Amino acid sequence: MSGANYHEQKDEKGEELQESKDLVFHSKSPSDTLRLGRRIGRLLHQGDVVALVGELGTGKTQLIKGLASGIGVRRVHYLTSPSFVLVNEYTGKIPFYHIDLFRLGGEKEAQGLGLEEYFQGKGVTVIEWADRIPSLLPGELLWIYLYYTGKQTRSIELIPKGKRYEELLRKCGVENVK
Ligand SMILES: Nc1ncnc2c1ncn2[C@@H]1O[C@H](COP(=O)(O)OP(=O)(O)OP(=O)(O)O)[C@@H](O)[C@H]1O
Ligand SMILES: [Mg+2]
Repeated sequence: MSGANYHEQKDEKGEELQESKDLVFHSKSPSDTLRLGRRIGRLLHQGDVVALVGELGTGKTQLIKGLASGIGVRRVHYLTSPSFVLVNEYTGKIPFYHIDLFRLGGEKEAQGLGLEEYFQGKGVTVIEWADRIPSLLPGELLWIYLYYTGKQTRSIELIPKGKRYEELLRKCGVENVK
């Protein structure tokens, strides 16, 4: 895992406009992705929501195994995407809800699922294909975008929405890596 970075956006005169809170990781292997997930997972609390976006096989489930491990879920190698149900529930130090919307027909279909109960529940909620339900997501959450960059490599972008998640990324200790 390398290349974590706080980008500084500057205007034409070179003055600092704002510091973007987004971070990009370059994962060099599945275990790199697992480690990143674990590092984030250790910092997750009750009520936190993580939204994952990425094409098939980009490593969403791999990252979620790391998140689950960081939360204290045991035997995460058994963790797979829910195949017939949309939600799998695990128990770590707190509950861990893994939602996979791949088979979701559309946002309308998701309206009746009571997803907000998970978001406000006693645990952490992680959603694969979260971009399929933009209007149902809470305003504050951690977006994670995964991109395929090579057979063994992935680019993983972390985008915090809200102070809580900006703080979480700072605590990850990644801001010192330039
Ligand atoms: N750097 C990497 N990070 C994560 N996975 C990687 C990496 N390099 C190779 N892989 C492989 O890519 C695959 C990722 O599978 P995974 O099920 O996690 O993807 P996914 O995004 O959840 O796919 P789906 O959309 O089908 O659910 C695994 O076979 C994993 O070994
Ligand atoms: Mg998956």
